[in-house]
Amino acid sequence: MRTKLVAGNWKMNGSLASIRELIKGIQAGMGSVGSAGVIVCPPAIYIAEVSKLVEGSNISVGSQNIGDQDSGAYTGEISGAMLKEYGCEYAIVGHSERRSIYGETDEMVANRYAAARRNGLKPILCVGELLEEREQGITEEVVGRQIDAVISLEGVESLADAVIAYEPVWAIGTGKTASPEQAQDVHKFIRDKIAALNADVAANLVIQYGGSVKGSNAQELFGMPDIDGGLIGGAALQADDFLAICQAAG
Ligand code: 13P
Repeated sequence: MRTKLVAGNWKMNGSLASIRELIKGIQAGMGSVGSAGVIVCPPAIYIAEVSKLVEGSNISVGSQNIGDQDSGAYTGEISGAMLKEYGCEYAIVGHSERRSIYGETDEMVANRYAAARRNGLKPILCVGELLEEREQGITEEVVGRQIDAVISLEGVESLADAVIAYEPVWAIGTGKTASPEQAQDVHKFIRDKIAALNADVAANLVIQYGGSVKGSNAQELFGMPDIDGGLIGGAALQADDFLAICQAAG
């Protein structure tokens, strides 16, 4: 049985004051989210503070990325052990902004995914196609390739402790959500692809949808059979908006 999981990816937003307010607001509404799991992914510098603030609550903490190495001369990177030490349970890897703005390749993403697992963190592997790739009809090829990079490095069984987030790049921050049917088609493709290798892993795998999810469209998206929650950007920055999405999942 899969439980719905909603993660807020705060990206590079907020301040010490605003994240304290945001966490306070989310905590105040946690009683109404039912069975949904709730994760927040603050900018790295605020992870320690957020972990302290959520202590004893049902809110989990995730990082927005993770170093592919465990220690050493890797300026600007943060290791899995460091993230774990400061309370992270999850690590987003392969977000489309990392892929497109910072040049992370499928192989680099797979290495970061492996680093998360090695350090006891659950990777949230982001996959998704660009608008031109959808228009060319190669969505499944692109998403399949992104998942294969991870499977060939870590094996399909590794997905038993991971989450996949399908985020069509054209729907991120644009206000253009994939229709529930469009998203469901890709989610089903992902689950079927994994089921061909391991049916149990596929049946239990949480596949989130991300891209302009709001309180007003969350219920319809989360009602689809293979959509197990969401990875939320803009709407995760206001407690009420985020809670409305968590409630739709719960
Ligand atoms: P938006 O919800 O702002 O479209 O962002 C989605 C996203 O990229 C979450 O990782």
